[in-house]
Amino acid sequence: MEQYELDAVRRITTKPARDYRTLSVRGLTPIIGAEVSGLDLGAELSEQQLAELKTAFLDHHVLVFRDQVITPHDHKRLAAAFGELRPVNPPPKDADPYILEISTSPEATNVAGNGWHADGTADAEPSLGSILYITRIPEPGSGGDTLFANMHLAYDMLSPTMKSLVDGLTAIHDGAVAFRGHPIPPDYEVPVSEHPLVVRHPETDRKVLYVNPAYTSRIPQLSEDESRAVLDMLFAMVPNRPMLACRVRWEPNTVVFWDNRCVQHHATYDYYPHTRYGQRVAINGGPLKG
Ligand code: SIN
Repeated sequence: MEQYELDAVRRITTKPARDYRTLSVRGLTPIIGAEVSGLDLGAELSEQQLAELKTAFLDHHVLVFRDQVITPHDHKRLAAAFGELRPVNPPPKDADPYILEISTSPEATNVAGNGWHADGTADAEPSLGSILYITRIPEPGSGGDTLFANMHLAYDMLSPTMKSLVDGLTAIHDGAVAFRGHPIPPDYEVPVSEHPLVVRHPETDRKVLYVNPAYTSRIPQLSEDESRAVLDMLFAMVPNRPMLACRVRWEPNTVVFWDNRCVQHHATYDYYPHTRYGQRVAINGGPLKG
């Protein structure tokens, strides 16, 4: 590793441990993700529990809760403690407008989220975070893991020269890119937005590399071929650096809450022809600033 990459990793891994009173937090890796225990998400959380949960969320970016039995009401109450609920787009027919079903049938040829992305980056105001509750995992009990990558560190590991190039750029995020030539549902209003290529996390002010292969189509300040080359290089940061990512192995009744502002995730479809089921509630974010 280059010295600037080591320095970036060291800044993350040498933070002092927190002193939690109402819950326990155990890191999945020193870089990203933590398992939180001691909370029943089926009950209303106290102010102190919520405050500690928010601290853990900002520190670890992905929180995993095991053995939770929650109703759609509990699920939405937890999300609402972090911000306004985000309606599903396109709206589900005759179903709760805030609950997205994540469901894989035995015939599925692909699954939602099977590529590196953050939720809603093509929207003018992308999502703050998503909370996924998985209740059925693939038989015979393995596969369907989800990977999560720390996009603060992806930015921090760029060379100083590359940082000075990307810091002043913007990028176009286009909802059509995710369909990769497949038909777009007629009731999906395809969002297209321009965001700074490097955004600042609204709560911690830390910089984030904010491009992803599922939605980002173009850097408008560069020529078409320059844009392609720079985007491909930036997209490759995550698959080329496994240390950026953690892997969540689901069990039935696992809840995972991730920060879409600084994390990308990738659902893994390695379980054909088995099934998997869960429900996701998302939280609205605000406009992004560079
Ligand atoms: C998604 O939100 O992209 C789906 C994640 C998953 O199914 O694990």
